[in-house]
Amino acid sequence: MKFFLDTADIDQIRKANEWGILDGVTTNPTLISKTGKPFMEVVKEILKEVDGPVSLETVSLDAEGMIKEGRMLAELGENVVVKIPMTPEGMKAVQVLESEGIPTNVTLVFSPAQALIAAKAGASYVSPFVGRVDDVSGEGMKLIREVKEIFTNYEIDTQIIVASVRHPMHVVEAALIGADICTMPFSVMEKLFKHPLTDKGIELFLKDWEKVPEKPF
Ligand code: G3P
Repeated sequence: MKFFLDTADIDQIRKANEWGILDGVTTNPTLISKTGKPFMEVVKEILKEVDGPVSLETVSLDAEGMIKEGRMLAELGENVVVKIPMTPEGMKAVQVLESEGIPTNVTLVFSPAQALIAAKAGASYVSPFVGRVDDVSGEGMKLIREVKEIFTNYEIDTQIIVASVRHPMHVVEAALIGADICTMPFSVMEKLFKHPLTDKGIELFLKDWEKVPEKPF
C-alpha cells in the first residue's frame, strides 16, 4: 500500500521524504489555506519536493469551470492529479480530463455507489473519507471494504485512496483490506513508528552497551 501525506505543509513533506516512505501527496482547499501562503507558492514547493502523484483540488461547481481549472493545474507538473468533487458536474469533468490524459481523483466520496460512479466515469483515483463517516456514527472502514469488493468483482483499475484518516489503525485496516493508497495527516504517519516496546528495547540495549569494555564507538 502506498503512503500519501494529506497536507500542504512543506516541512512535513520534507520530513516524510527523508524517511523514504512518501509515495505522494493529497491537498484540499482547507489544507492549502492552513499554510497561510499564496496558492502558487505552496503548490510549486510541493511539486519540487514530491516525485509521486500530487492531488490538487478544483473549486468550481460546474464542469466547464472544473475542466478549465484542471487543465491549468495539470500544466504545473507531470505528477499533478486533479481532484474533482463527486457530483454529476464533476463526473462530466472527470470524463473530459481523463480523455486528455489528465489523471483525476474523485473526492468527497461517502458511499460505495459514489465510488462506483467515479470508476465508471473513468477516474484514476477515488477517495472515500473514512474519518468523516466515523464522525457521523457510520463505519468508515466498512465503506472501504465494500468499495474494494466491488472494484475486485469487476476488475476496476481505479485506485482506492483511503482519505480522512484519523489514527494508525485506519492505516493498518486499509492495508488489510488491500486499498491501493492511504493518505494520512503527518501526525498519523509519525504515530505509525511508535511502539512502547521499541523505546524500552532501545533504552535497555543502551544501558547494557555501557557495560561493554573497549567500545569502538
Ligand atoms: O483531503 C481529504 C480528506 O483526507 C480530509 O480529511 O480529516 O478533513 O476529514 P478530514
